[in-house]
Amino acid sequence: MNRNKLVEKYSINKNRYYNRDKIFKEKWKGVIMINLEKAEKNFKDYLKDYDLNNGNIKLKIKHTYEVMKKSEYISKGLNLNKEDIDLSKLIALLHDIGRFEQVKQTNDFIDSTGFEHANYGVKVLFEENLIRKFIDNDKYDNIIKKAIYNHNKYKIEDNLSEKEILHCKIIRDADKLDNFRVKETEEFKNIFPSKYNPDTINYESISPKVYEDIMNHKCIKLDDRQTQIDFWICVIGFIFDLNFNISKQYIKEKGYIDILIDRIEYKNKETKEKMEQIRKCAKQYLEEE
Ligand SMILES: [Fe+2]
Repeated sequence: MNRNKLVEKYSINKNRYYNRDKIFKEKWKGVIMINLEKAEKNFKDYLKDYDLNNGNIKLKIKHTYEVMKKSEYISKGLNLNKEDIDLSKLIALLHDIGRFEQVKQTNDFIDSTGFEHANYGVKVLFEENLIRKFIDNDKYDNIIKKAIYNHNKYKIEDNLSEKEILHCKIIRDADKLDNFRVKETEEFKNIFPSKYNPDTINYESISPKVYEDIMNHKCIKLDDRQTQIDFWICVIGFIFDLNFNISKQYIKEKGYIDILIDRIEYKNKETKEKMEQIRKCAKQYLEEE
């Protein structure tokens, strides 16, 4: 082969390999968008500004990682693809990012006092552009934003895309499932930072509106909760807002209705009777497909 032919052959191959490499990189840029390892590392960095010895902060960190597991459980149960499974986990990692500032500023978790943690999370992530620390590409920004904004609202807002609705539903279910774990395992003083009163909890009554709503399979509106027992019933009422059958099954299999109801000793006769009605009503609902 003479020298010219050799140079020609080399340049054809060079271009071919260059193009193949370019196509390969483009292709994978489209697929590997969510680096959960990097996101978790940057989440830990974000937490450096908060008191990691504070019981409320600890509770929310543990909750975040547990919600990630529950989102994965639901997404896999729904047979979603890897991209959506990873996206649901990333949303779970970030869904309560506003909680840490809320605890720092108010030492409480009550949104109705003025600090709305989901709205705050959306603000720091998207207005202050913190989101780019957790995911390089902006392809999923709207889905993440809508899922975080809607995760704690009474209802999912209207006019969302199919994908946005799907991820809103997953995070709402995963968050609720882990709330049952928190209510089973945490001390009351951490669960109700400002409301807990060990001297009164066993003697309290249920507010009429709360009882009526739960017996009608309705979620309890946060502002309707007056007593500590109302707060407790509100958690039980989460079952009426679960979106997926796999989530209902999870609550049933873990026996969370009995666990929660039996965690308090009801010394008020009327409350005791009503709690038995709630137990029956909730368990019946979980049996329905
Ligand atoms: Fe949460």
